Order: sequence, then structure tokens, then C-alpha cells
Amino acid sequence: MTNRTFVMCKPDAVERGLVGEIVGRLERKGLRLVAAELRSVPRDLAEEHYDEHRGKPFYGDLVDFLTRSPVLAMVVEGPEEGTWHLVRTLVGKTKVEDAQPGSIRGDFATTTSENLVHGSDGPESAARELALWFPGLI
Ligand code: RTP
Ligand code: MG
Repeated sequence: MTNRTFVMCKPDAVERGLVGEIVGRLERKGLRLVAAELRSVPRDLAEEHYDEHRGKPFYGDLVDFLTRSPVLAMVVEGPEEGTWHLVRTLVGKTKVEDAQPGSIRGDFATTTSENLVHGSDGPESAARELALWFPGLI
């Protein structure tokens, strides 16, 4: 279903107590939580999640970071196709210095490596990540 996407509050967001702020922003936008689970992430799941970055210089640190402490994994639904894009706009740009104020990263992140939220970056990755993190969800 293309109006669903995968979103995750990363370990830094849970550690900093920003889960309510982040989920609140998604909800106030008009998006709906379909599923949410606080989870300790096994290393193999973190590696698979970030498979596209395997071999890049930051890959090891990224996997270390995601497995550091629990994340809030979520299925988020919007009224139309392209929910993944709405979420990415709310989340803000990857490079911390490019993340605009008003976006989650722009308002709360100070480094690119600890940038609080993950959102799928397209319909294919949304489908892949939803199946990876919530295999039981119809
Ligand atoms: P995410 O997958 O976590 O939602 O982040 P993203 O799409 O905005 O960025 P992506 O390119 O998928 O990179 C995943 C995470 O790796 C870190 N990163 N570091 N040092 C670097 O050049 C670099 N590039 C990416 C970031 O923490 C990014 O969120
Ligand atoms: Mg990404």
C-alpha cells in the first residue's frame, strides 16, 4: 500500500525524550500511526535496514548507532500516495547544516550522524522496509 511508509525514532530521539515531539508532529500533520513498537535492534536487522550503505565509510558507525539503544519503529499512513515524501519533508535534509528550521532535524539535530529520525526515501524502500520491520502486518 503506497500510502504507508516506515518511520523510526532513532536511539538519540528515544534517549533525548523527543519521541512525543516527533510523533506529535507526524500526527498534527494529519498522518496516522498504524503500528509502533519500541525495539532493541539486532545487528543483522540494522545492517539489512541500511544495506544500501554497505561498504561506505560511515556504514559501521551507522550500524553501531542504530543498535546503541532502543528505537521506536513505526508504520505511518497518510490519505494519499507519497506519504514517504511528506514524512521526509517533515524530517528535513540529511546533512545537518542543510536541514531547515521547522523540520525535525532542523529544529533538534546538531550532527548528521545523530539526526533523530529515519523515513523511507521512496515507494520501493517503503515497501522493503515495512516488510523488513513489520513482516506480520497486512
Ligand atoms: P535515514 O536513512 O536515516 O532516514 O537518513 P537519510 O535517508 O536522510 O540519509 P542516508 O543517505 O540514507 O544516510 C543514512 C544515515 O547515514 C548518515 N550519513 N552520514 N558522513 C556522511 O556523509 C553521511 N551520510 C549519511 C546519516 O546519519 C544518515 O541519516
Ligand atoms: Mg536513508
